[in-house]
Amino acid sequence: MAQQVATNITFHDGNVTRDERKACMKQTGGTVWFTGLSASGKSTIAVALEQVLCQQGNPVYRLDGDNIRFGLNKNLGFSAEDRAENIRRIGEVCKLFADAGVVTLASFISPYKADRDAVRALHEEAGLPFIECYVEVDLAIAEERDPKGLYKKARAGEIKGFTGIDDPYEAPEQPELVINTGNQTLEQSVAAALEGINSAGLCS
Ligand code: ADX
Repeated sequence: MAQQVATNITFHDGNVTRDERKACMKQTGGTVWFTGLSASGKSTIAVALEQVLCQQGNPVYRLDGDNIRFGLNKNLGFSAEDRAENIRRIGEVCKLFADAGVVTLASFISPYKADRDAVRALHEEAGLPFIECYVEVDLAIAEERDPKGLYKKARAGEIKGFTGIDDPYEAPEQPELVINTGNQTLEQSVAAALEGINSAGLCS
């Protein structure tokens, strides 16, 4: 975990209360954390969900593994250490978005339980809603989909340390939601995620 380096800094609170923020945003907001293998469907569900929520008038924003690695996390690779730092930074970004009252959809493989638990703890300590959604799929199905051709490359030894092939994926033990994309349609997956979001009160 990252160490506090700066000294002589003081946290500066604002005057806007959570209730005032909620009244302004017309919703509570919070983070929905999609975790699962590459090609499990995390990003596809988040993209569709973002559109539905936006059309409903709910402030929503999507943070996606591949996209974030073009900018904020462009200096990180896929070692266990870099993946941990990737998730730590995104966890902090999610916390800020959630605190701002936005429904924040994060899709990251996030293969390590400890890294995901740290993001959960960050939200819980701040009193912000956090929904862990395990996007479950058999490796064989993910490999068959292989939209970016990465599993093929990993099997051929052209990519080292690819999640599910020669790098681990630790499935969540007690996620708030499980969506199995091997046996349901995108519409069903989006509906399940929406139900989870609504029952956790993120949109109200
Ligand atoms: S994480 O493990 O740190 O959470 P993240 O979600 O940001 O990963 O990025 C995963 C994406 O990076 C995959 O969808 C895939 O397109 C790409 N990728 C490239 N190399 C790897 C690798 N070695 N393991 C997993 N994904 C990889």
